[in-house]
Amino acid sequence: MAIRGSVETSLAELAVRVRRRTEGHSGRFLLGIAGPPGAGKSTLARGVRDELNLAAGAGIAEVVPMDGFHLTVEQLREAGILDRKGEPDTFDAAGYTRLLRTVRDAAVGETVAWPAYDREIHDPVPGGVIVDRQRIIITEGNYLLLDEDGWSGVFPLLDEAWYLDVPRPVIEQRLLRRHIRGGRTPDAARNKIARSDMRNAALVEGTRMRADVVLRKAGRGYRID
Ligand SMILES: Nc1ncnc2c1ncn2[C@@H]1O[C@H](COP(=O)(O)OP(=O)(O)OP(=O)(O)O)[C@@H](O)[C@H]1O
Ligand SMILES: [Mg+2]
Repeated sequence: MAIRGSVETSLAELAVRVRRRTEGHSGRFLLGIAGPPGAGKSTLARGVRDELNLAAGAGIAEVVPMDGFHLTVEQLREAGILDRKGEPDTFDAAGYTRLLRTVRDAAVGETVAWPAYDREIHDPVPGGVIVDRQRIIITEGNYLLLDEDGWSGVFPLLDEAWYLDVPRPVIEQRLLRRHIRGGRTPDAARNKIARSDMRNAALVEGTRMRADVVLRKAGRGYRID
């Protein structure tokens, strides 16, 4: 196991860390992964889940994304805030908190349907994730550690919180690529990043100190700071 701050930690090692933390834990274990837009949260969450399931030889872990609680494009358009999509009040934070609590408290084996987010249609998809027998639930998103705007109920539900830290220039590059791939012109993409994404990133960066673990990408793995 990697020593804090020293060497690169692989996904498999991170999964071992999670497994150890769940030992002796009764009921479901909730791991939260927070971080700014484009940090790689979804990628990390899926990677840890897959390593946990591979090592166990069974489906013991699942990812439930905060992104599933985006308000729909129609709702945002009606409210006149479609251009602010991605900001804290463009999500159903209360619904997210409620379903997270439901998942935590539900008996293992009981089915709970969780909404996924479809990047093609830019809207949530009801029941995109099914939680039933998994004992380790990984939830990931920007605002998990936020202590304002209706988000403060999330943090107390988490058994462990990670923060994925990525330098601003890396995030900007990734978001630029994503926005252009999504159909924006380079100018429109840069405008969206400057006006909206980086403001959200600054808000999220202010929550980093609440995390139990801060991770940074290092080589093929991550470094724990
Ligand atoms: N460890 C990594 N090394 C290199 N690229 C990565 C890494 N993790 C993620 N990426 C890339 O960065 C981009 C963003 O990753 P991802 O979608 O996981 O981020 P996110 O934090 O979930 O973003 P969002 O906040 O928008 O949901 C993707 O193109 C992904 O391939
Ligand atoms: Mg994501």
